[in-house]
Amino acid sequence: MKIGIFDSGKGGTTIYQAIKKVLPNEEYLYVADSKNCPYGEKSYTRLMEIVTDIVENLKEWGATIIVIACNTATTKCIRKLRKMYPELKFVGTEPAIKQAVDSDAKNILVMATPGTIKSERTRSLLKENQKEGQNIKLLACPGLADAVEFDTGIDQKLDELLSGEREYDAVVLGCTHYSLIKDKIQKYFPEAELIDGCDGVASQVLKLTKNRT
Ligand code: DGL
Repeated sequence: MKIGIFDSGKGGTTIYQAIKKVLPNEEYLYVADSKNCPYGEKSYTRLMEIVTDIVENLKEWGATIIVIACNTATTKCIRKLRKMYPELKFVGTEPAIKQAVDSDAKNILVMATPGTIKSERTRSLLKENQKEGQNIKLLACPGLADAVEFDTGIDQKLDELLSGEREYDAVVLGCTHYSLIKDKIQKYFPEAELIDGCDGVASQVLKLTKNRT
């Protein structure tokens, strides 16, 4: 079975590693679309054009499961893609808000791209999961995914975005690029648990492959 994975670059490699750990023998196709990075600052129409193009290619190359290893493309485009390609199985990556809420953290910070933060899906994840007495702050981080992708100015960007932030019990890394700089982010929140969706995505892919055999 061929599993296609895509992201606006190397962020999704964190997802790929997690899937490969549970499914080491599958065949993988990985599209790192750094030419179009950042996805998080593109309009819905442009992003749909970009991701449709990638899905067409992955389909042509024989992928039957497509993993959207990108929170932005998932929260904005997965519903439409599922309608357009009913013959493919899509697995998306969403900000792990439920996981943070279930950990009973009181103060939670969600870091993500502007596109993810503004998406309807993120709003409904909040609405569906937030418990009484929990404070959840959504923080759009323009420029951070591209700083990671192109390895320029990461420290400065983090300082700009995070030095004014207070203490949190949990920080949701709602962009796959941020998982690559976990250690740097942890320094701003030494006591917080940093949560990303990698293992959740991997177990969903595992479930799908089991259902098919
Ligand atoms: N890594 C992606 C995400 O999880 C996209 C980052 C971007 O290109 O803006 O949101």
